Amino acid sequence: MSIRISPSILSADFANLERDLQRIADADLVHVDVMDGHFVPNLTLGLPVVQRLGEVSPVPLDLHLMIDDADRWAPRYAETGAFSVTFSAEAAADPVSTARAIRSNGARASVAVKPGTDLEPYLETLDEYDMILVMTVEPGFGGQSFMPETMVKLARARDAVRASGLDVWLEVDGGITTQTIVTAVENGADTVVAGSAVYGGSPVDNIAALRAAAATVALTS
Ligand code: DX5
Ligand code: ZN
Repeated sequence: MSIRISPSILSADFANLERDLQRIADADLVHVDVMDGHFVPNLTLGLPVVQRLGEVSPVPLDLHLMIDDADRWAPRYAETGAFSVTFSAEAAADPVSTARAIRSNGARASVAVKPGTDLEPYLETLDEYDMILVMTVEPGFGGQSFMPETMVKLARARDAVRASGLDVWLEVDGGITTQTIVTAVENGADTVVAGSAVYGGSPVDNIAALRAAAATVALTS
């Protein structure tokens, strides 16, 4: 299986986002972190910027909402034409209704869980989601260290998806390097976010290095 790479523009130059999107044209997706300064102690961008990013991006938008009141806002982000909308489980009062609203607005529906959040309720309603995002750091900032203890949860999700027969993607986000991507893929990740590991240096070379590292697992498992 070929692993999808989703570079995070949190590590791009916010004064040159269109240029930095072109630099990752050979990625599979682009990961856009929406932070509201409430759900996480950091603030990035909102609906009008996401709308324009979608219009100029060479690859589909993989939105990651780290904002309060996900039930209200996630469907609005889906309306922008984004390929995928991930909301934070901890910020949603009614995750299933929110996932359905995302789908009915034309995007893939996905839910993210923080390292300390139980995944089981989402695995019990797996058919409502197109992707599960297992956070491998505490959300809020780029450049943090990968938390290996999250791999138990990822492997459990992988087993649940396999048992279901559903085509639900499994994404990891935070602290991904050419080393930690191997661990994540071994435990079931098929979609991998990387911010500092892509934009620190040459994005084209870094994406190729991440793909090569991921492929070493695909060849042996
Ligand atoms: C963190 C964000 C990540 C971040 C990852 O809350 O959700 O997407 O950009 O950055 P790296 O890959 O540098 O850990
Ligand atoms: Zn993210």
